[in-house]
Parts: sequence; structure tokens; C-alpha cells
Amino acid sequence: MPTVTEILETMDYGPAPEASGEVMGWLKARGTFGHFIDGAFTKPGKTFPTADPATGAELAKVAQGSAKDVATAVKAARAALPGWSKLPGHERAKWLYAIARHVQKRERFLSVLETLDNGKPIRESRDIDIPLVARHFYHHAGWAEMLEEEFPGAVPVGVCGQIIPWNFPLLMLAWKIAPALAAGNTVVLKPAEYTPLTALAFAEICAEIGLPKGVVNIVTGDGETGAALVAAEVDKIAFTGSTEVGRAIRKATSGTGKKLTLELGGKSPFVVFADADLDGAVEGVVDAIWFNQGQVCCAGSRILVQEGIAETFVTRLRARLAKLRTGDPLDKSTDIGAIVDPVQLARIRDLVAKGEAEGAVLHQAEGQLPATGCFFAPGFMTNVAPANIVSEVEIFGPVATLTTFRTPDEAVELANNTRYGLAASIWSENINLALDIAAKVKAGVVWVNATNIFDAGAGFGGYRESGFGREGGREGMREYVSGPAPRAKPETAPARLDAAPVPGAPSTGTAPIDRTAKLYVGGAQKRPDGGYSYTVTGKSGAIGLAGLGNRKDIRNAVEAAHKAGGWGRATGHNRAQVLYYLAENLAAREAEFTRRLKSAGTPKPTEEVATAIRRAFYYAAQADKFDGAVHATKSAHVTLAMPEPFGVIGIACPNDAPLLGFLSLVLPAIAMGNRVVAIPAQAMPLAATDLYQVFDTSDLPGGVVNIVTGARDELAKTLAGHDDVAAMWYCGSEDGAAMVEAESAGNLKLTWCPPNRDWSGPGGQGRDFLLRATQVKNIWVPYGE
Ligand code: NAI
Repeated sequence: MPTVTEILETMDYGPAPEASGEVMGWLKARGTFGHFIDGAFTKPGKTFPTADPATGAELAKVAQGSAKDVATAVKAARAALPGWSKLPGHERAKWLYAIARHVQKRERFLSVLETLDNGKPIRESRDIDIPLVARHFYHHAGWAEMLEEEFPGAVPVGVCGQIIPWNFPLLMLAWKIAPALAAGNTVVLKPAEYTPLTALAFAEICAEIGLPKGVVNIVTGDGETGAALVAAEVDKIAFTGSTEVGRAIRKATSGTGKKLTLELGGKSPFVVFADADLDGAVEGVVDAIWFNQGQVCCAGSRILVQEGIAETFVTRLRARLAKLRTGDPLDKSTDIGAIVDPVQLARIRDLVAKGEAEGAVLHQAEGQLPATGCFFAPGFMTNVAPANIVSEVEIFGPVATLTTFRTPDEAVELANNTRYGLAASIWSENINLALDIAAKVKAGVVWVNATNIFDAGAGFGGYRESGFGREGGREGMREYVSGPAPRAKPETAPARLDAAPVPGAPSTGTAPIDRTAKLYVGGAQKRPDGGYSYTVTGKSGAIGLAGLGNRKDIRNAVEAAHKAGGWGRATGHNRAQVLYYLAENLAAREAEFTRRLKSAGTPKPTEEVATAIRRAFYYAAQADKFDGAVHATKSAHVTLAMPEPFGVIGIACPNDAPLLGFLSLVLPAIAMGNRVVAIPAQAMPLAATDLYQVFDTSDLPGGVVNIVTGARDELAKTLAGHDDVAAMWYCGSEDGAAMVEAESAGNLKLTWCPPNRDWSGPGGQGRDFLLRATQVKNIWVPYGE
């Protein structure tokens, strides 16, 4: 036995394990779990074990869902949909409150079960995961209550297939199920294969409270089960997991009309400025990368420290690291629990070893790790070159990289030097600096002097290859409702492209008069790269020639659009002035545009031009009015939900309403600060090419609108596959939409394929267009003690 003096010297803790008897009894009583379909557990067929990663001991067996199981579950969800969606919101709210209360009553049980199945410390499951689960259901009960008022005319999406990862098993379930149910959808959810148990306990809660059968269905299984769910007759897929699987799901759902949200990986920067509260920032690292063993999609896995304080910071960080306790996850004084599975442990070891082989230096907590189980000592790596594998790849374990920067600009450059964009954490006592950086980082969530804070009232989700869509708050609810949608109107068939050399183009030698409408790139008229044009046919034959753009033209246009980045930083007021000017200049040429449309044979030329002018005034008005929100989240924080432009948006326009269709898509995009590369109506591009002079005389900076005429779908394919295009809108054929969605999987750009419609009707403009033109960044700022 140690003496008192020795104890005072080591200040070691005694063991303080949370009792697991109740949970073990529950598991023993069940032994093997079937799926939860149509309100009851099925008889398990093929099964697989799920184990406690801290000991390797098997906890239970669960069923491996087949495509048939998935189909049965989807059928049950489909059958339950009319009843559930037609319940008054108030009634659905009561069910969600009941779930929330039952989760709260079982907080201890669920925390222990989560810790056993996942390996996370009981302190985290007890104090973070499970309370947030209850909070999520309470919050969304409120959305059910207010749905009609807050989302007028909206309807549920339908049956939602939901696939979740293993890092926050019950919390991810809550993030998926609560908004879906609140909006009147029914669900089939597949938990991750390593951690299915709390989802099954949740199914028992649903049965116990008497939730109408078929509203929630849980099918367990691995990636194959997940793929079967993606392929099933569902109306929406909501996925959280790896970027690789997200990309496969994007491809698999393209052209199916299934709504899709993806919450994927990250390599989030944790930026420490010289004037930061260094002890606070060190504690921040603990929460950023050592929380949940670093198995967090938004983990602050790239620590960037300003050079002057780097040495001090590293010293303090090492001292703090030495105090972390790795061990039994059920022990209440454990900081670092077990890695979820031997497969993940091997992955972490492999990546860290590769990082070291490439020159990085690993600083790891010393001390004994448990002899068995999936444990990895927490740490961080220095001397990490930008090209080192650990700089780029998500380790998804308790190891961050640490590099330095000199100036704020360099910090931003390094922070954004990743294909991901999920989160960022910024540490500085200077509010001007912190918010300046918050505005410049490309991430869906930004924490100032904080990290890894979550709340049901704020949206969560990424930019770039971290996926699209938001979970939580009003933004998250939007993903689970549809409409009201304008009536789709089939578009007229695109014109045949009879290619001919551009008169006067270099390839044809000389020709005296060049009447070909050129392309518009970077604010200047440009000959198409290929030197060809095509005939544009009006109501009584050929009325002109338009440039036949190719891939190179698209690439040049994207480059020009990138150079016009200042437009996104201009104030709404500045953009509004340009758009007013544009509207006025368009109005001054009303007669000319009407004549052009008449010669093209469009059905209502006068009305189309008049509406186009009104539309330009409308988006000028919106430029400084469409704004964000302040979410009510946690105490001592204010959460700003800021709509930001995507950057460069590709837009393929409908053949109908060649002027109005074009402006209806381009104007909202640029009003919000995006730059666009637009492909006008293939059949009648001249209405759009006539706009060049309007743009030139309206002080629209060159590169904000770029126009490439030609074969729409071919050009759209290049745009959709372009890695420097952040979002792609396509209004055309169903085949074209499917192609655009499939091509977008490369950089996981957001796609929007609105159906053609009566562009002069109410469905031709509105807030929906502005919502599509922006992505929300949630910025958490300290507010109060
Ligand atoms: P994963 O993406 O394979 O698994 C996530 C979920 O997707 C699981 O439920 C899985 O069964 C399912 N799934 C797998 N393949 C599927 C498919 N083809 N179609 C539909 N569903 C499918 O992630 P995994 O393999 O467990 O972890 C690998 C790496 O992914 C991690 O090391 C980490 O880097 C990253 N990851 C990121 C997460 C995040 O929250 N962003 C969560 C989990 C993993």
C-alpha cells in the first residue's frame, strides 16, 4: 500500500468505474438482436458480433441486414408515411417529447451502453452524447409544433434512408431521426456495424412509448446493408461517414431524384495566434483532438500556431498531454478511452507510422496503456511537411499535426489548404482578428476561442468535400421538407448544332464581317477556342451565329470567375447598386430585347422582357436583405448563422425563356456574391449574349458573369466535373441532370437541378433561389462569462 506522502506526490487517482451490471443484464437477456421493423424486432437471420473495444469481449450478436430486410423496412416506413405525415404537428411533437423524456430517464443506462460498445470515456457519453440526444429530441419536438407556421406549404420528403457512423452512435441517430420525424417523414436507419447497440435500445424506447409502427425502423448491418438502403425505394438519403463512401453514394443516387445530404470527413484547422489565452488554447486542443479519441469528423486535427509562441505552446501542450489518463472507458477519471475497433486502431497506427517515416516527429503521452484492448496513446506530430500524408489524410485518432505560421494571411492560407471544409477553431484575444479569420476560413462551422461545441439549435455541416446540407436548427429542418414546388414544365428540345467555322476566326483565314456572338469571359468577348460557331434558328430561319464553346473555354471561364473573388467580399449594398444599374440598363434596352425575342419566336416576348427587368430589380433589392440568423444555443456563446456565397457556380440554363430563364438563375447567384459560368439556352443563346453590353455598362466587374455558348449538356458535363467549381445548377433534361449529379461526385460539389417551369410565374423567383445560392457558416462567438 502506498504511504500518504507517496500518494500526495503522485496525486494518483483510485479506480472509479461506473457500474455496468444493469446493461450487461439487458444484453444477456437479449443475446441476439433482430432488426426493428414495423414496430417489432424481427427474428435474426445471419448475425455478426459486436464487441467492447476496451476488452475485446463480445457484447451481443446483431443481424446482418440483407437487401430483403431493407426492402421490408422501407415498405413498413412507406405504409406508415400517410398516417404520420398527416398527424397535426402538435401530435408529432408529443411523440418527440415522449422520446426525449425516455432518453433522459435512461441517461445512465444509455451512457454505459454507448461506452461499452464504442469505447468512449463514460464522462463523455454521460456528459455530452446522451444529454445532447435528449436536447435534440426536445428541440425538434418544437419544430414539429411550429412546422406549418415556419415552413408554409412545405411537405415531408417521404421515406428517409439514414446511414450513420460509429463515433457518436446515438447522437448521430438523434441528429438524423429527430428532424425527419418532426417534419413528418418516416425513417429506416442503419447504425454502423461497430456500434449498433444504442440504436437497438432506442428502438425499444420507440416500442415502449407506442410510437406508431413503421415510423422508425432500424436495420443493422455493414456497408453492404448501407448500399442496399441507398439503392432502396427511399425518397432521401442522409449519410454521415467517410468522404469515400459519401462519393459512392453521390454516384449511386445520381439521376434517381433522391434528396441527398452528406456529412463527411474533415481536417479542421485549430489556429492559435500569439495573443491567444495560451492555457485556454491548450485546453482547447484537449477538446479538439483528444476528445472521443480524436474520432470526430470536426476534430481540430491540424494545430497551426503563430511562430513567436510556438515553443511555449508546445511545452505547455506536452505538459498537459502528460496528464491525460488513457484506460478503462467506464472509469470516471479516464480521459482517453478505447479506439472503436481493431481495424480503426490498425489504420491509425499505419498512418502515424507513415507520417513518421516521412519525417514527422511524434510526441506521445507516456505511461502504461492497458495490456489488452484497442488503445492508442494520444499525441501530436511536429516537423510535418505540407505534403506529409498526415497533413492531408484524416487520421481519425488522437493525433494532431502541429505546424507554425507567421502572419494572419499565412494562417488563412494554411487553414484552407485542404480539400475539406467542415470546421475551424480560432484562438485570439483580439476580436477583430478572430472574426476576420472566421470570415476567411472555408468551413461550415467556426468556433472562436472554443472547439467542438454542438447544439440542436445550430446548423452543422461542411463546405467543399466535407459534404453538403446541414443538421440542426432551421437549416437542418430544411433538409427534411420539400416545396412548395412550382409546376414543372417540359422544356423545348434543344436546337441541333450545325457547327461551322466562325467567320473571321483564325482557323478559317480571313472573312470581312464577324457577326458571330462571341463568348464572354472575364468581362471581355472572346472567340471560342475551337474557332467554330453554330447557327441559331428563329421563327423564320437562321437569325445569327453563336460561338461553339468547348472544354477549354469552360476552363478559361472558371479561371476568370476565380479571379473575380472581390465580388464575394463586396458589401450587399455595393452589389445591390450594380444590380440596380443593370436593371436600369436592361430597361433602357427593353425594345431591343423584345425585338430579339420576337425574332427568335419565343411565345410572349414583351412579357418575358418586362419580367426580366423586374427580376433584376428584385435581386438588387435582395442583395443586402437576404441575411442570416442568430441561433439560440448555449450560454456564453452567440451562434451566428451567416449565409455565404459558394464561390464559383456553374449554371446550365433552360431552353425556354432564353432571357428570363437565364436571368432567373444568374441574378440570385451573383446577388449573393457568387461568380458564375453560365451556359445559356442552347436553342437561343443570343438573348444572353445581347446582355454583354448591359453588363459592361453596369459596372459589373469582369469575371462575375462568364458566358459560354454551345452544346449545353456537353459543356455542363465539363463544368460539373470541374474541381474549382463549388456548386452546379442545371435546368434541362432528366438525363442531363443525372449526368451532372454523377459528374459532381469528384469534388462533391452541391448540385441543384430545378425543373423547367413557367419562369414568369411565382416559381420563377424568390428566397428559395437565394437559399440555393448560399451555404451557411455557423460562427460560435463568446458572449458573456
Ligand atoms: P464508413 O464511411 O465506411 O462508414 C460509415 C457508415 O457508412 C457505416 O454505417 C457503414 O456501414 C456505412 N457504409 C459503408 N459503406 C457503405 C456503402 N457503400 N454504402 C452505404 N453505406 C455504407 O466509415 P468507416 O469505414 O467506418 O471509417 C473509415 C474512415 O472514415 C475513418 O477512419 C474516418 O476517417 C472516416 N469516418 C468519418 C466519419 C465522420 O463523421 N466524418 C465517421 C466515420 C468514419
